[in-house]
Amino acid sequence: MYAAVETSFDEAGIAVCGLDGHVLHAALSSQVELHAPYGGCVPELAARTHVSDLPQLWRRLPVELVSGITHLGVTAGPGLPGCLLAGINFARGLARGLDVPLYGLNHLAGHVMSPFIPQNGTEPPVGFPHLALLVSGGHTELYDVRSLTDIRLLGQTQDDAVGELLDKVSAMLGYGYPGGARLEQLARSYPGIDDECRYDGEFRLPVPMRASGDLNFSYSGLKTAVVRLVRDERRSLDKADHASLLACLFSVVVESLWIKVADALRETGYEMLTVSGGVAINGFLRARFAAEAEATGARALFPQPRHCLDNAAMMAWLLKLYVDAGERPAPFDMKSNWTPGTR
Ligand code: KG4
Ligand code: ZN
Repeated sequence: MYAAVETSFDEAGIAVCGLDGHVLHAALSSQVELHAPYGGCVPELAARTHVSDLPQLWRRLPVELVSGITHLGVTAGPGLPGCLLAGINFARGLARGLDVPLYGLNHLAGHVMSPFIPQNGTEPPVGFPHLALLVSGGHTELYDVRSLTDIRLLGQTQDDAVGELLDKVSAMLGYGYPGGARLEQLARSYPGIDDECRYDGEFRLPVPMRASGDLNFSYSGLKTAVVRLVRDERRSLDKADHASLLACLFSVVVESLWIKVADALRETGYEMLTVSGGVAINGFLRARFAAEAEATGARALFPQPRHCLDNAAMMAWLLKLYVDAGERPAPFDMKSNWTPGTR
């Protein structure tokens, strides 16, 4: 069995998957409430909390699973250095105690492969090549996934990530951190937004990077546009106005993501697209992408919602894929930047 420890950011997770890849155990310790008063993650606090949370998560693992572990993985990057170190140190001790090999794993590769985690047998097998859009609090990237170990960066955000934009807008409007889920709920209460995220209402926001001629993204200008719109509005906006404004915001965000994905599908001729990361929970994005992909003859695949936000199950699954492919344990180098084509 394959076990993994994940502590790249503010969630600590330990998960085990079986030889067939099914997730047998997944424990997660969320720090959302701990960081909420600060309006964002406090790295030092996150790292210290991981140090005390990990042994507790480990103790929750059923003993029959512990004895079945043959390979252990740990997220080696990218992430907050202190948080990564907490996980790596813990995993090193575990690997020694269990006498199993320890693998350093790339967090982004974990997200990218998360849509293929087996659940009920209806999901397609891991297929290459395909396109992968990763949308989270820290990442907005488009990859050409040629194989498990040949993942090429096609485009990325030039500034803020999508989740970061949502979290900042949420803080500005007074809806707290993190903001994505709460903002989606509010936007859904606006009657002028359809299931596929087409907006009919009074607000206007630009679709970022529409004509940039490349596969990159940018969301800081959109954040400024929202700030200006709220500031320049002559009346003060109530909750119903916020719902309309947020519906408008989601419509341009989803549109901007789809434009680049459609270009990439056309350029590569690929027929499969995956969307992963915390923002992939978003129902507007899922519905729009599923419909648009189908219209172009492609298939859009999403992880189960519990595998979208940071979690250790996706890392255990990634470890299983590497071991099956004959990959050897990776050395630790604490390199915190993704290098396309490597992991
Ligand atoms: O993958 P994740 O845990 O973070 C990184 O690894 O960066 O994703 C967290 C992000 C946050 O920005 C949060 O606001 C966003 O995912 N998010 C959502 C939704 N739920 C969480 N964004 C849009 N719609 C949602 N329903
Ligand atoms: Zn992540």
